[in-house]
Amino acid sequence: MIHVLGIETSCDDSCVAVINDKYQVLSNVVSSQTEFHRRFGGIVPEVASRKHLEYLPLVLDQALRDAHLDLENIDLVAVTQGPGLLGSLLMGVCLAKTIALFKDKTFLGVNHLEGHLFAIRLEYPEIQPPFLALIVSGGHTEIIAVRDWGKYRHLGSTRDDAAGEAYDKVSKFLNLGYPGGPIIDRVSEGAQGDRFHFSAGLEDDDTLDFSFSGLKTAVVRHYSSLKEEEKKDEKLIRDLVASFQESVARVLVNKTFKALEIYGFSQIVVGGGVAANRHLRAKMKEEGEKRGVQVFFPSPSFCTDNGAMIAACGLFHWERGRKDSWEMDPDPRLPLTSIE
Ligand code: KG4
Ligand code: ZN
Repeated sequence: MIHVLGIETSCDDSCVAVINDKYQVLSNVVSSQTEFHRRFGGIVPEVASRKHLEYLPLVLDQALRDAHLDLENIDLVAVTQGPGLLGSLLMGVCLAKTIALFKDKTFLGVNHLEGHLFAIRLEYPEIQPPFLALIVSGGHTEIIAVRDWGKYRHLGSTRDDAAGEAYDKVSKFLNLGYPGGPIIDRVSEGAQGDRFHFSAGLEDDDTLDFSFSGLKTAVVRHYSSLKEEEKKDEKLIRDLVASFQESVARVLVNKTFKALEIYGFSQIVVGGGVAANRHLRAKMKEEGEKRGVQVFFPSPSFCTDNGAMIAACGLFHWERGRKDSWEMDPDPRLPLTSIE
């Protein structure tokens, strides 16, 4: 039995997981640094890399324990090479190389976005390309045509803020806390998402691109124009963020299904942290049912950053003969490329 260790440190979560060659998850440990970044209302890169250094040995130890394995049993070390924060990526890559050096293991750098695509394989081995993918996270909003595993065509992306970034910024401005996505998801529950209408840039254009910066500004402006007593009106604020959430979901659903119409896929896979959003999940499924298209989401814990998706992606490439040399370095802007 082959065992793959997956290390993910592209942002602020220190993640290590172990999977086997059937893509079964044997352990998946995520140590969130949220409590350290919360007071700043966002991620401080310098703090993130220092915390990775502190947490990674503990997270690695826990992941091996949970899987009832030790490093001797690991056949491949897969690590996020990019895109992401350089200082954070460096910590994961250093750990992967250290294990490779001292334990004489093969290692492999993985693209973070491709990792998010592979998350679906951990729970739904039956889902096979071709499919249309929507990756929505704190750093990315991308529509990708997946012709086969490893064969990608980029169809659209955000021209400014990523969807998750808009969530985080709106939440920060409204003093709701950090990270904004899960907070707004919770606060919006049962609120009136149709109370305010916010349109997003590029919403009705011909492209498959997104723009969330104007939407974020519209919500922030609306909030700023409220009287002080209105800002304390809990129902009003809940309706406001629910209306923001409604707009984000509407744009994501519309553009994804527009891409589907143009390129003719019959299944959709959604991934990335924002794919954990309950409203987006419901809206996507609803539209899919209307059109007879299957829409798949990983479980929320595999939507947000994790080591298992990196291990899965690494396993795929390793089985096709890829491995990396000591020259492999983190690349904050690593593009998503297709295999030959
Ligand atoms: O994929 P991810 O964990 O890290 C990146 O690659 O960026 O995504 C993190 C983003 C954050 O912006 C966070 O606010 C958002 O995903 N997020 C959510 C939810 N959970 C996380 N956004 C909306 N609803 C959620 N439930
Ligand atoms: Zn991510």
